[in-house]
Amino acid sequence: MAPHIILIGPMGSGKSTIGAQLAGELGFTFRDTDSMIVEQSGREISDIFIEDGEDSFRSLEKIILRTALLEDGSVLSLGGGACMNVDAQSALRASGAFIVYLKISLAQVSSRVGFNQGRPLLMGNPRAQWQSLMNERAPIYEGLSHYIAEVDNKSVADISDEIAFAFDLRGRGALDG
Ligand code: S3P
Repeated sequence: MAPHIILIGPMGSGKSTIGAQLAGELGFTFRDTDSMIVEQSGREISDIFIEDGEDSFRSLEKIILRTALLEDGSVLSLGGGACMNVDAQSALRASGAFIVYLKISLAQVSSRVGFNQGRPLLMGNPRAQWQSLMNERAPIYEGLSHYIAEVDNKSVADISDEIAFAFDLRGRGALDG
């Protein structure tokens, strides 16, 4: 078995906030790969990036993702880059989890106070960096997901309800079958 629902999408799309709300609503546990990395390593994500480099962070992230995919019955939210390698993509597809892409526009993400804080990949020019990552990553998020939740101008509660509804229609049926 594996997590029931996996949230993917870019930095600032609200994966952790929405994931926690959704897990509460459905009575599942909530897990988050970034928090698992911080717990396991005892260090902040930005410190790992700055002191050890991105490759080191990605290796840790791969190990954490493997562990997280073994945990039953959770809502799991992934760091924005965690699904960018082919091994992760195969593992996610094989997990049988209902994969949801949280889609947000640059206009909305950049209006979020502090969306670049603690995110080393957005240092310098956060808006341009975010857009450039999205140009590369959006097709992967789309290709991996079973459901796309547009988050612009919606409340956390509404997005969570929408995903729970989609999960009931498509995801939970697949789990029972
Ligand atoms: C990253 C996203 C971050 C974090 C790290 C790298 C990325 O997670 O894993 O800074 O490559 O997009 P969030 O998407 O939760 O901000």
